[in-house]
Amino acid sequence: METPYKPLYYGDYLHLPTILDAQKPRSGELSGELNAPNPAAHDEMLFIITHQTYELWFKQIIHELDAILALFSQNPVPEHDVATALHRLERIGAIGPILFQQIDVLETMTPMDFLDFRDVLYPASGFQSVQFRLVEIKLGLNRQNRVLTHLPLSDEDKERINKAEKEPSLFSLVELWLERMPFIQKPSYSFWEEYQAAVTKMFAHDRAMIEFNAAMSAQMVGDMLTQTEMNEKSFQAFFSEEAYNALRESGAKRLSFKASQAALFTLLYREYPILHLPFRLLQALIEIDENFSVWRYRHAQMAMRMIGSKVGTGGSSGFDYLMKATAQHRVFADFSALSAFLIPRGSLPKLPDEIASMLNFVYIDRQNQERRETRHKAASEYVKTQVQTNFPNAFLIDDDYDNGAVELHYTFPDSETANHAMIFIAPLLDGMKAEYGVDVRVKAVPVHAV
Ligand code: HEM
Repeated sequence: METPYKPLYYGDYLHLPTILDAQKPRSGELSGELNAPNPAAHDEMLFIITHQTYELWFKQIIHELDAILALFSQNPVPEHDVATALHRLERIGAIGPILFQQIDVLETMTPMDFLDFRDVLYPASGFQSVQFRLVEIKLGLNRQNRVLTHLPLSDEDKERINKAEKEPSLFSLVELWLERMPFIQKPSYSFWEEYQAAVTKMFAHDRAMIEFNAAMSAQMVGDMLTQTEMNEKSFQAFFSEEAYNALRESGAKRLSFKASQAALFTLLYREYPILHLPFRLLQALIEIDENFSVWRYRHAQMAMRMIGSKVGTGGSSGFDYLMKATAQHRVFADFSALSAFLIPRGSLPKLPDEIASMLNFVYIDRQNQERRETRHKAASEYVKTQVQTNFPNAFLIDDDYDNGAVELHYTFPDSETANHAMIFIAPLLDGMKAEYGVDVRVKAVPVHAV
């Protein structure tokens, strides 16, 4: 078949000659030279291919992250772009297990096999994986949170890192997006006040349950009350913006107070359709953070298994540094930490109708609207029939629906009939309010006044 473009060949499309020619075991190249292994170390091929595979996946992750960052740089972020970003985050989440499962393959190389070529690697190190640093930075790991800040990189690589550090990260963009969440503070509703009241009530209930539990000894009651008091204190620290900000300054928290509230609201009320996407997005961030932690931990264990407590080829303390980084280099830890502040569904305050209706899809709204319109129609028809039956001379000149109320405008032959009609109509209007919840307003004027 003729195609308007040049026929494609599999190997050319994937640039396989370049990729498959890129595994050059250094132990082979240096074979025979001073201190170099002789002959070439068999397992170095596995070592190279594993690293290259990682770098390809890092490239894919950066590709996804750049697209997600562009979507989240918008203000506001359109709903369908949140869905696209989520889809891409979930892809990064799915790549995670591939990254840490590769360690199983690399660990088929024994420490003795590694020693066959480790010396020829100096001073190269995973430290110099610029793509790994870019992933960390784009996710939101910043210098203040790093265990080590001076990395042995080329000037060109340092430049790439510095540039990325100046750009907004996923953490900072998600934080801003959460801070803009519109539902949590309204003139008639404050999520934070309702939540605090519910927590206070929940602890009072918990204390009463402990105190009146006849099956427990005095010692057990005392212990449990102390534990409850400690839990309550951790909630209290979360309630006060000042205390929370002190935690932020100390580095114990990163996410802003406002964004934390919005994230908590999302976790608590995630069943509402509008919150479902944000909820899944938070879950995806937690998942990615967890995957990277698992990778770091497994990588540290692998390093211990391969080189014990020796220093790394890049000059760090090795295992010790890697374990510190595992604990400290978490970007979205504040999101998972919010689980401590979840309260059972039974204690959760019901959302007022005003907020609940905002959190439902428009489809539900339409159903409600149809019901409202049916009620308005019934109320207005009833009033019109009554007026027409009792005042055959009344003339309907306007029948309107304005600002949630039905408005009927009549003319009457004279002022006296108009006044009389209003006296007759007033209780009907009260009846409509009581029966249908509908405001019907009637204007009655003598015909000469129109
Ligand atoms: C025999 C296997 C491996 C050993 C013994 C090992 C050991 C180490 C050590 C000791 C460090 C600390 C830095 C240093 O002083 O060099 C390090 C860092 C690193 N390694 Fe490996 N590594 C191995 C395999 C891998 C693989 C397959 C990758 C995949 C890309 C990798 C990626 C990294 C990265 C990204 C860092 C920097 C981590 C950070 O700073 O948080 N390593 N490695």
